Amino acid sequence: MRAVTWQGKRDVRVENVPDPTIQEPTDAVIRITSTGLCGSDLHLYEVLTPFMTPGDILGHEPIGIVEEVGAAVPDLQAGDRVVVPFQIACGNCWMCLTGLPTQCETTQVTGEGMGAALFGYTRLYGAVPGAQAEYLRVPQAQFGPIKIPEGPADDRFVYLSDVLPTAWQAVRYAEIPEGGSIAVLGLGPIGDMACRVAQVLGAGRVFGVDLVPERLRRARERGVETYDLRSFDDEKELVAAIRDQTDGRGPDAVIDAVGTEAHGSAAARLAQQASAMLPRKLSGPLAERFSVDRLSALYTAIDLVRRGGTISLSGVYGGTADPIPLLTLFDKQIQLRMGQANVRRWSDDIMPYLTDEDPLGVDDFATHRVPLSDAPHAYEMFQRKQEGAVKVLMKP
Ligand SMILES: NC(=O)c1ccc[n+]([C@@H]2O[C@H](COP(=O)([O-])OP(=O)(O)OC[C@H]3O[C@@H](n4cnc5c(N)ncnc54)[C@H](O)[C@@H]3O)[C@@H](O)[C@H]2O)c1
Ligand SMILES: [Zn+2]
Ligand SMILES: [Zn+2]
Repeated sequence: MRAVTWQGKRDVRVENVPDPTIQEPTDAVIRITSTGLCGSDLHLYEVLTPFMTPGDILGHEPIGIVEEVGAAVPDLQAGDRVVVPFQIACGNCWMCLTGLPTQCETTQVTGEGMGAALFGYTRLYGAVPGAQAEYLRVPQAQFGPIKIPEGPADDRFVYLSDVLPTAWQAVRYAEIPEGGSIAVLGLGPIGDMACRVAQVLGAGRVFGVDLVPERLRRARERGVETYDLRSFDDEKELVAAIRDQTDGRGPDAVIDAVGTEAHGSAAARLAQQASAMLPRKLSGPLAERFSVDRLSALYTAIDLVRRGGTISLSGVYGGTADPIPLLTLFDKQIQLRMGQANVRRWSDDIMPYLTDEDPLGVDDFATHRVPLSDAPHAYEMFQRKQEGAVKVLMKP
């Protein structure tokens, strides 16, 4: 089959690889009909290269048709239409039963000290072949895949794999008081959708911050009060402007939907690039400790949120030795919640919003639908935020 493979920093290629097969009784194989390109893939494209191996198959946002199931997957059969969550979880361990499939004790990548295995996401997360491909082997298929109805286009449901539950969890973790205010930093697919979810779940005011004009416009058109980072001298000024709108206190909650690729600190970017150039043996641990990530969005969130408010972190940060302003977090009595989205924890709550009325605007959320063979260009376009790319779906 054809699959998008990682070959090196900013180098992905569509190659022929062996078709996946059933290996465990709990496996299924699906034929993918659409598959998303995510901000998380961009981390692998550039920053997390030390954890990748040339030939790794990327991708974790698939929708498709079941081809074949193992003997221990009673609820699926060939021909079913399914969305597959980006994390692999058993549904039956203590963590899964607590609503935390991202911490699944059956699939945890214990050798690396990490949580549940993820599709297409570095050796830290199990080096599981990913979903930007014609076919996908789905481990733990007795739990993961979400059956969806025939009829609507893939766009209606594909975001259940990641974007929707991530945005949903970000908003639920933000614990906005009834009618309260929230600021969303970053209006990529995750931040954009988080604004929409906050609106349907009853936030009073939604502020959105980014620096890409069409991303700001998309959010503004749906009633978000947008702020262009480029029109401020520094983050302090931005914070002051939003505080002015919230009785001088700051919003009740702030979602950081930016992650480690924040635009802001030039020095940290240099450190990251230096570590990507080092020999692999050195650069793994170095990148882990010193991706003194570009924390600028997180710092902005800490400054911006009102005292006693909540920060909900959905952007992915990579480093383990980041200097965090713990003093300020403590003094401001801030609640900080974060983590990979627990997809099946939220999917049933989200499903009622995926209707013909389309309150979340999923049907035209994608800005680009391209053949899988265009993946190299799609990655470059999405990373550079060119050609109006916000969400790209690939069609194998
Ligand atoms: N928690 C999860 O389960 C989960 C799931 C999916 C994605 N993510 C993470 O969410 C983040 C966003 O993903 P995405 O798909 O929306 O990707 P993205 O990279 O397109 O979005 C990031 C956005 O932040 C903007 N930005 C950069 N610096 C900024 C700053 N200082 N202030 C405000 N905005 C800034 C960029 O212009 C961009 O629009 C990534 O880190 C991704 O890994 C997490
Ligand atoms: Zn994703
Ligand atoms: Zn489990």
